[in-house]
Amino acid sequence: MKKGLFITFEGADGCGKTTQIELLKKYLDEKGIKNIQTREPGATELGVELRKILLHYDKPVSNVAETYLYLADRAQHVEFEIKPALENGTVVLCDRYTDSTLSYQGYARKQNLETIEKLNEIATGGLKPDLTIVFDIDSLLAQKRLSGEKDRLEKEGLEFHKALRLGYLEIAKKETKRIKVINADDTIENIHKKVVKIVSEFIDKL
Ligand SMILES: Nc1ncnc2c1ncn2[C@@H]1O[C@H](COP(=O)(O)OP(=O)(O)O)[C@@H](O)[C@H]1O
Ligand SMILES: [Mg+2]
Repeated sequence: MKKGLFITFEGADGCGKTTQIELLKKYLDEKGIKNIQTREPGATELGVELRKILLHYDKPVSNVAETYLYLADRAQHVEFEIKPALENGTVVLCDRYTDSTLSYQGYARKQNLETIEKLNEIATGGLKPDLTIVFDIDSLLAQKRLSGEKDRLEKEGLEFHKALRLGYLEIAKKETKRIKVINADDTIENIHKKVVKIVSEFIDKL
């Protein structure tokens, strides 16, 4: 039976997910709250291989193939990392999860949303996050924050990234209890404070 708390972090590349997860991890560590930081794709050994393909394969990839690769990564992640940690009473901080597939492969790649939802359900065995934080940011600003060589998804154009952003906001509107949206165009410290406030309310209920 699930005893931990499953928190996912969502938003475009460059919105600040990794920065905020690391700060939250430090905060939870200091409070003595058992937690792990994980991510998709690429948290398991199999996932590392899938991540290489997903982010760096340089020939055309069909939308369906892309979707299934993400879902394969997720199925492996849920079964061997997330579920055992939750059963163990751990707070799981996960960088991207089902809402990424819905936003990227659904809204941005324009695939059927209900199908993606069903596939997510199969890949996760129905495991939903207790809480999801979406960092909302202007697409151009997010891209400006990124440095180094862009991966396969980051190379997509502005239109793709705008659809992605709207996708996240649509999803958040449908599940206001689970999903909290934070404006990511703010200082790292201010955003961290908001994250701590939201997460603390959940942890108090544990
Ligand atoms: N609130 C912020 N304001 C300005 N720069 C930020 C902010 N949050 C993160 N950054 C910087 O933007 C870049 C992308 O942040 P990162 O946390 O890696 O985003 P993500 O994991 O969502 O791709 C990093 O260089 C990071 O230091
Ligand atoms: Mg990151």
